[in-house]
Amino acid sequence: MKVTKPERKIETGVFDRHTLLVISKFLKKRVIESLDYPISTGKEADVFHATTLDGRNLAVKIFRIETSTFRAMEDYLVSDPRFKGISDNKFDIINAWTRKEFKNLQIMEEAGVHSPHPLICHANVLIMEFLGVGGMAYSTLFQAGSLAPESDARSILDDIARMYRAGLVHADISEYNIMMTDKGPYIIDAGQGVLIKHPKAHEFLRRDIDNIVRYFRKYSLGLDTETEYQKIISEEIEHGKLRRRKKKFQREPETPAGDGTGGGADDEEGEGDIVGAGEIEGADAGAGRDDAPENVDGE
Ligand SMILES: Nc1ncnc2c1ncn2[C@@H]1O[C@H](COP(=O)(O)OP(=O)(O)OP(=O)(O)O)[C@@H](O)[C@H]1O
Ligand SMILES: [Mg+2]
Repeated sequence: MKVTKPERKIETGVFDRHTLLVISKFLKKRVIESLDYPISTGKEADVFHATTLDGRNLAVKIFRIETSTFRAMEDYLVSDPRFKGISDNKFDIINAWTRKEFKNLQIMEEAGVHSPHPLICHANVLIMEFLGVGGMAYSTLFQAGSLAPESDARSILDDIARMYRAGLVHADISEYNIMMTDKGPYIIDAGQGVLIKHPKAHEFLRRDIDNIVRYFRKYSLGLDTETEYQKIISEEIEHGKLRRRKKKFQREPETPAGDGTGGGADDEEGEGDIVGAGEIEGADAGAGRDDAPENVDGE
C-alpha cells in the first residue's frame, strides 16, 4: 500500500485481499496517489480520504464484503432493469450495489441535486468528490443540526423532487445521509436509490420525505409529509415527464453483470474495466455544477 506520510499509513490488514487488489489498481492507474485515513467506518462501508497526484482531496467508499447485509441489498436491486440477472454471489451483489450507488450519483448530478460528483468505481470501491475543508469532512445534518432550517429543509425537499423528476427515489434519506457543506445540505449514500418503477418506490419516497419532515419538526417549520409528497408527485404528473424519464432509465445497463466489470470471485487479480474510466484524466470534482462546494479541490 502506497502512503504519503508515515502518520497517514493505513494498516494493510484492514482490507481483504480482493479490496487490496482493487485499491492497488486505482493507485497503479494514478486515479489516486495515496489512500490516507478513514473518515468513517460502518457496517456496510468504510469511507477514506485519498489524495490525487496534484494534491486534490477525494473520498473513497469501500463496501465491506464480509459484513454487508446481502439480503437487504437484494431487495433494492430487484426490479432494477440496470442490474437484471445478477447472481446471488456476494461479490456480484456488492459490486452491483457499488455500481448502483455510482449510477445513482450520476443521475443525481445530472438532475442538479446537491450531491458528491462520482468519479469512478470498480468492484466494491467507489471514488467521489470529497465534501470537506482542508481534508476534514463536513459534518452530517445529524451531527451539526441546521443553522438555516427553512432553507435547508427546502433544499433537501427540492432535491428529493429533482431526483423523482429524474426517475429516482433515494430511499435512505435521513439526517445521517446529509452533509452540511458551505453550500448547504448535500445528499450522500445513494446505494439504496431505486428507479420509480420499483414496486416500493412511492413508499420509499414518502418515507424519505417523512424523515425530513420529522427531523425538522424541532424547528417548527410547519412542514407536512402528505402535502410535500403530493406536491412532488403531482408536479411530476403535471409536467408529464414521468413516462419519458422512465423510458430513458429502462435502457439496458452499460455494464451488465458478468462482463468483467463486476470483479467478482473470478476477478481477484483486479482485471476488468473501471466504470467511469474515461473520467480519470483531469477529472474535476464537482464538474457540471456551478455551486459545488469551494473546498473540494484543495487544502
Ligand atoms: N463524499 C464524501 N466526502 C466526505 N465525507 C464523506 C463522503 N461520503 C461519505 N462521507 C462520510 O462517510 C460517512 C459514511 O458515508 P455513507 O453514508 O455514504 O456510508 P454508509 O453506507 O452509511 O456506511 P454504513 O452504512 O456502513 O455506516 C458519512 O456520514 C460522511 O461522514
Ligand atoms: Mg450513510
